[in-house]
Amino acid sequence: MENKRSSFGSNFGFLMAAIGSAVGLGNIWGFPYKMGKCGGFVFLIVYLLLAVFVGMIIMCSELAVGRKTKLSPIDAYNQVSKKFAWIGWLATIAPFFIMSFYTVLGGYCLQYIALNMTKLSFGNEAVAMSGGEVFGAMLTTPLGCVVFTTLFIVICMIIVQGGVSGGIERFNKVGMPALAVMLLIIIVRSLTLPNAVEGLKFMFVPGYAVKGGFIESSPNLVSVLGTAGGQMFFSLSLAMGAILTYGSYLSKEENLVKNSVIIVFSDTLIALMAGIAVIPAAVANGIAQGTPVGQIKLGGPNLLFVTLQDVFTNMGKIGPLFGVIFYVLVLIAAISSAISLMETIAAHWIDKDLAKGETDTRKRNVLIVSLLILIEAVVVAADGLGSNFSPASLLGISAPPVFLDCFLDFMDCWSEGIAMPLGAMLMALMIGWERSPELVLDEVAHGDPSEGFKNFYRVCVKFVVPIVMAFVLAGQMIDFFGGSPAIWYVVSAICLAAFWAFAASGKKQAG
Ligand code: PFF
Repeated sequence: MENKRSSFGSNFGFLMAAIGSAVGLGNIWGFPYKMGKCGGFVFLIVYLLLAVFVGMIIMCSELAVGRKTKLSPIDAYNQVSKKFAWIGWLATIAPFFIMSFYTVLGGYCLQYIALNMTKLSFGNEAVAMSGGEVFGAMLTTPLGCVVFTTLFIVICMIIVQGGVSGGIERFNKVGMPALAVMLLIIIVRSLTLPNAVEGLKFMFVPGYAVKGGFIESSPNLVSVLGTAGGQMFFSLSLAMGAILTYGSYLSKEENLVKNSVIIVFSDTLIALMAGIAVIPAAVANGIAQGTPVGQIKLGGPNLLFVTLQDVFTNMGKIGPLFGVIFYVLVLIAAISSAISLMETIAAHWIDKDLAKGETDTRKRNVLIVSLLILIEAVVVAADGLGSNFSPASLLGISAPPVFLDCFLDFMDCWSEGIAMPLGAMLMALMIGWERSPELVLDEVAHGDPSEGFKNFYRVCVKFVVPIVMAFVLAGQMIDFFGGSPAIWYVVSAICLAAFWAFAASGKKQAG
């Protein structure tokens, strides 16, 4: 089976694909807005620390488990651990749930490209609506959202059907450099707007977010930790099977530590660049429109689809050109991530068929997976972020918790909110306590890591990652379910203690 399994054509191709998976809506949409919500600079520092001490460790672990087993998540975890084999299911169902809304957001990008192309061809007056009005009209037109979501899914399906090297690698080798160039163009435009410096101060000057009135008071450190941790995992595509799956297509010669550093560094750099492109532009535009600095909206879906659309419209004739460039770059980011999720799900059945000796089933399996994704995505597309209906309205609940606000939040709650932090915690406990850190270090050793790295890895995987993940889990629960934070800390601590004991009990198969 191993011989016929797909693989990347080169390490560069792998890196572009893995960076493509990591760089997505999470960077361009989530990072700037969560930074806005969590007080700018503090968030940035916590994020960077987490990326080094937790993100790097899980990235290396996933790549190593993938490459060692040369299997997709369900079979890979099954082979590595009898106790935690079910993490593989978690890492396959979570991508499926994420795709339910990721494809809808991809569809929005397609609509915004069409909007800006119309404005570019016929002038801004051709669609004389504000960003808010456009967004509202789009959300309350379910049919349009379903059509564009379907189009986005078809694009991803065609790429994934093309194969690991012929489709995914090829798309990312062109898409990622193109995305970087487009981002640079937007940054230059954004930073040359009058008052853009206020946005930079918001991002990089400690305490400025509170002083400028953007947020009322500094958020507490634990809530920043929860938000930054969730964001970091989502942004790096961790604990969702995607990195493990890509690792399973990587050649034994490649250095996993170096690759992990490159992926984490590039993803963080692009997230920062996206922040520099988006936040100063939003602040500069708000000031130009006479909005008091502290009242400029830097949060939520509004930032990408309302505030920025207004920024482009207010740039005059040339604005729609920047609009097209910006939304195309967001689209590329969305596709490069979505194809990694689609591949992760489909890989399980492709592997199964290979084991049975059926070699040519990629196209069929990817088609089936795409159809299943379409079914769930139609619901998310049609509810229009809760404008048309929502889980709460269907259940007749007034004043619902966040996760019932719309189907996007509902799906996000189970995938990003629960499966991801839990999956990462369990993976670290499995490697650190049930098996042994050497399981990963032996695989990584093909790239010859230093003693320093080995010690760093052992301490982080055994202690730092599980504990940090318990905080992230609690933070996500508080965000999604509300209620008393203390209760969620206790729930999280109990989860950690129980799984830790489970992992460490009857430890027998080291190495
Ligand atoms: N990393 C992507 C983003 O930042 O938007 C989202 C993502 C892709 C999450 C792949 C998980 C994953 F497996």
